[in-house]
Amino acid sequence: MSRVITNKTVEGFAAFSRKVAAEGCVLLKNEDNILPLTTKDNVALFGRVQVDSYRSGTGSGGSVNVLYKTNILGGLQAKEITLNQEVQYAYEEWIKENPFDNGGGGWAAEPWHQKEMPLADELVEAASRVSNKAVIVIGRTAGEDQDNAAAEGSYLLTGEERAMIAQVIKYFKHVAVLFNVSNIIDTSWVEEEDYKDALKGLMYVWQGGMETGNAIADILVGDVTPSGKLTDTIAYSIEDYPSTANYGNEFRNDYEEDIYVGYRYFETFAPEKVQYPFGYGLSYTSFETQVLGGKRVADTIEVAIKVKNTGAQYSGREVVQIYVEAPQGELGKPAKELVGFTKTKDLAPGEEVVETIEVPVSKLASYDDSGVTGHPYSYVLEAGSYHIYAGTSVRQVERVQIDGEDTYEVEEIQVVETLQQALAPRVDLRRMKPGRQKEDGTYELTYEQAPQQVVCLKERVERQLPQTIKQTGDLGYKLQDVKKDKVSLDTFIGQLTNEELATIVRGEGMGSPLVTEGTASAFGGVTEGLSNYGIPVACTADGPSGIRMEGGGYATQLPIGTSLAATWDTTIVEELYELEGQELLLNEVDVLLGPGMNIRRSPLNGRNFEYYSEDPLITGCIAAAVVRGIAKSGTHGTLKHFACNNQEKYRSFVDAVASERCLREIYLKGFEIAVKEGNARSIMTAYNPINSYWSASNYDLTTTILRKEWGFKGIVMTDWWAKMNHIIDGGEAVSQNTAHMVKAQNDLYMVVTNFGAGVNTNNDNTMEMLASGELTVAELQQCARNICEFLMETPAFIREKKEIKGIKEVVVKTYHLTEQEKEALTLLRVAPSYDGARYMCVEEDGVYELTATLQVPHNSLTQVACNLVMNDKILTNIQTQGTDGKTVEHKLGEVALKKGIYKVHLERVKPQLHIQELVFELKK
Ligand code: BGC
Repeated sequence: MSRVITNKTVEGFAAFSRKVAAEGCVLLKNEDNILPLTTKDNVALFGRVQVDSYRSGTGSGGSVNVLYKTNILGGLQAKEITLNQEVQYAYEEWIKENPFDNGGGGWAAEPWHQKEMPLADELVEAASRVSNKAVIVIGRTAGEDQDNAAAEGSYLLTGEERAMIAQVIKYFKHVAVLFNVSNIIDTSWVEEEDYKDALKGLMYVWQGGMETGNAIADILVGDVTPSGKLTDTIAYSIEDYPSTANYGNEFRNDYEEDIYVGYRYFETFAPEKVQYPFGYGLSYTSFETQVLGGKRVADTIEVAIKVKNTGAQYSGREVVQIYVEAPQGELGKPAKELVGFTKTKDLAPGEEVVETIEVPVSKLASYDDSGVTGHPYSYVLEAGSYHIYAGTSVRQVERVQIDGEDTYEVEEIQVVETLQQALAPRVDLRRMKPGRQKEDGTYELTYEQAPQQVVCLKERVERQLPQTIKQTGDLGYKLQDVKKDKVSLDTFIGQLTNEELATIVRGEGMGSPLVTEGTASAFGGVTEGLSNYGIPVACTADGPSGIRMEGGGYATQLPIGTSLAATWDTTIVEELYELEGQELLLNEVDVLLGPGMNIRRSPLNGRNFEYYSEDPLITGCIAAAVVRGIAKSGTHGTLKHFACNNQEKYRSFVDAVASERCLREIYLKGFEIAVKEGNARSIMTAYNPINSYWSASNYDLTTTILRKEWGFKGIVMTDWWAKMNHIIDGGEAVSQNTAHMVKAQNDLYMVVTNFGAGVNTNNDNTMEMLASGELTVAELQQCARNICEFLMETPAFIREKKEIKGIKEVVVKTYHLTEQEKEALTLLRVAPSYDGARYMCVEEDGVYELTATLQVPHNSLTQVACNLVMNDKILTNIQTQGTDGKTVEHKLGEVALKKGIYKVHLERVKPQLHIQELVFELKK
């Protein structure tokens, strides 16, 4: 079958992503210099994942259609390394019989791990006689709608894997284990008697996108020296993480640990629970760091540190990290907080460099959400001694002298910024607070009640209602006239009728025929009416690690978020995303639905692979680099999921009950950095509620904090098929409540069905609430304004305008049908199948409107897709959500047909989509 698949990938992009993937590898153990592998070594490679290497996690952030894949075995074969042929052969043969299990290819169906090959003792014993080193690869995945679990095969090793490691260790003296995983997993077993001595090497190689195999091989043979550092704390047990107790709840998840997330908790209360500290990672070479001192320069503290490569053989890079230990004061503080970092250039053996890191003093401040310091709702520097540390992990640090003094002293409390109460909890919530300092320097764990919402949200909303722009009807102004300064944006918006305003806040998708095939949504000028004003149709596409085009278009798949962050290198990430921006432009995608940047509150969140860290500073800096890089092409990144998407289970129900302080200091901070330092212009809200207001109708989140405090200029969109509740009363949430979405200034509802925006297929309440006065025209105009202003800054605005309905044509062919096929021939309607062709006839030339009736047995956040093939060519990609088993109608667009017989069939992209019938109706 002939099919046109676009390959608009950017040259050199994959090669660059290989470099980044290698930079992100984190070496945790390297005794007897087991790594790098050298030409003298003979290496036996164990674990099936050497062949079935993981490129990414699963779900919307992992679905990139790639031109080629690489695996670890292939990567090493291309190097001058001798691999044990017998072991390799055994795996290859076994995998033929036991192929990769993708769980059927459905949404969230892929298992966390793959069955491992049982090792015959003879094989390992024989291998140990030929090979001097063994490398074992362990793989894991998880993703959207599928959290990790504190169970074997996910967070814990399986019995098979343990047996494999034990067996290899029994015969080999030099064994290294690699984790080709999306997220940290349990490593406590490394210290058990059975493994401790023989296991010489341990490295997180993560998932590096399509170049995974080559990147890992580069690291293993020392073409690249590891320089990645952990962006999470690895504790001995999953139970040690303070979020675990509340993880996975259905309706309410209390953020009891408050700001004490990750190392902030462990360093303050329980350092003994840490196996590998935050910021930790080894190199093939060694470094000496010498803190030269710190000084106060205007509003910053400058810390200078000398780093020297003291090794003799390998060049390498080191990450310098600056932490603060603020006085406990009234608020209570973590024992350490990251306030700055940098990465050296590649240092040759013997080479040294002095790095200077600037830390704005304001970054040392904490948020008072109760008024206990006398300054409610303010960032304050409480009086006392601030200890500044510099080093190469949260544990390997040295105290920095500031202007010759041991500490940075704040004599009297200083107010850095005064804000207003926003997003505070509305129910009782206890939260952690350090109590008495113990002799060993740690703190007693105590709890206090988090302050509750006292501000009158109703009054706030009413006070800030926008002014209505006079509605004039169509004056003939186009959006281009605004760009040319012929007319103001307000005058332009004034032309839109209420119906048009209600339409523009609806995005269409997935797989809209108005934009690039198989992408997530189209928004803007999605109807003829809106398009006539010169409003372009813009295209959004997933996701964080490369463009997702379910229609078959190829794209470059990048390393996962975990890997990017572990580089601690914002420059390299920005360069990588500059190339991503070019690829977006080439594929006519205006808005990428990434970076994903939620805080990794728990190692169990399935989407951790899309995210960066347990720490907001590194999260924000990496995300800022991503959006800056993308923006260089004129396209845009989207920060998601704003905010607190910290578990996939019950993701559209579970209320994140969290204090205002912890939201501001931890869960929103990364977004704030990406808005302020990355100039992000697009944000996706999360599915979940935060303190009882669903994120997509959370006034304080998207108006008070995002737009008013941070000065965000751009669009806010919902996550796909999200729910909204009442912006003041809270209560139940439904997907139809776009009125309250608009009131919160969440501009866009993603998504209604294709061609559904103008006719309100989602049956949303915008018009009804306008009529009742609950929603004002001004509020709706405000969102339309945000959207149009944004659209003027997208490539769509200058792209040649396509025919709005995107009429497609099918070339007529001659088919000679069998008697049976003739009998089954239908007129202008057909029940298509995945298993074989069906035939349909058309008796009149013309343009036909095509509608599908379809059904998906799964819930509404499930994503399914297939291609509709007519006369051997893909006519369209059909992508939609789960329908809970209900049959629904979907308009698929217009198609020009000539008299004749047509062959129709379906091609599976993501299973579970049942197309019951296709109906072609002649357009009058
Ligand atoms: C995910 C988003 C994604 C969207 C479109 C949702 O299910 O949560 O991250 O961008 O789908 O695929």
